[in-house]
Amino acid sequence: MPDPDPILLLEDVRYRWPGRRAFGLHVGQLSLARGETVLLLGESGSGKSTLLSLICGTIAADAGRVLVADTDFAKLSPGQRDKFRAEQIGLIFQQFNLLPFASVRDNIALPLQFAPKRRARVKDPSQEARRLCRELGLPDDVITTRAGTLSVGQQQRVAAARALIGTPPLIIADEPTSSLDAETQESFLELLFAQSRAHDTSLLMVSHDARLADQFDRVIHMTEIAQTLRDAA
Ligand SMILES: Nc1ncnc2c1ncn2[C@@H]1O[C@H](COP(=O)(O)OP(=O)(O)O)[C@@H](O)[C@H]1O
Ligand SMILES: [Mg+2]
Repeated sequence: MPDPDPILLLEDVRYRWPGRRAFGLHVGQLSLARGETVLLLGESGSGKSTLLSLICGTIAADAGRVLVADTDFAKLSPGQRDKFRAEQIGLIFQQFNLLPFASVRDNIALPLQFAPKRRARVKDPSQEARRLCRELGLPDDVITTRAGTLSVGQQQRVAAARALIGTPPLIIADEPTSSLDAETQESFLELLFAQSRAHDTSLLMVSHDARLADQFDRVIHMTEIAQTLRDAA
């Protein structure tokens, strides 16, 4: 029976990057239940990041539907799309995308500026940023440090705190553990799973590390859900 209220639903989605013989994807169906944690595995170049960009509405499908919390990105204006994304999705990018000259605290609190509902769930953004840093094993004084001066592993944890603040219903993470040591990776994942359990947050995490599989509710492989369209005209 189909899930009556999935956080994410893709139906018959097609997308091709511009250019001759460019890489393209066709996803027949993909859905994520509320509170579900899913690991998406796939080879490098199989289109995982492209798929996440479609889910976040940063690129628009050529055909088909991408619904987040029952809303189709295609029906929103660009401004509405940015606001909707900020409310619904906590994003952890492969390259973190922190503001290097802003403090760790300001980086973590940033999504709240664009997402009033997330902001309303946080009593004190500074305190919450501090709490998240602590949970992720970052030293207390890091909060006033400029993000660009941190190590790669520390920046990754700041990016996770920024995604978690204000408990958006969907967390999307693109290979977030690749720059973390084993111990940090463990606390990083534990925090994501704890938020998922406590707030019914769904987690879609991309990795090429199949060893993480048994920690997730479900594992899917790109080859099961997506066809690549490389050569067709
Ligand atoms: N910004 C882009 N412009 C054009 N083509 C792109 C772009 N990003 C990715 N691609 C194409 O999509 C293919 C899949 O890339 P990507 O989605 O990043 O895969 P993965 O994340 O699985 O490694 C790449 O081989 C590349 O050809
Ligand atoms: Mg990628």
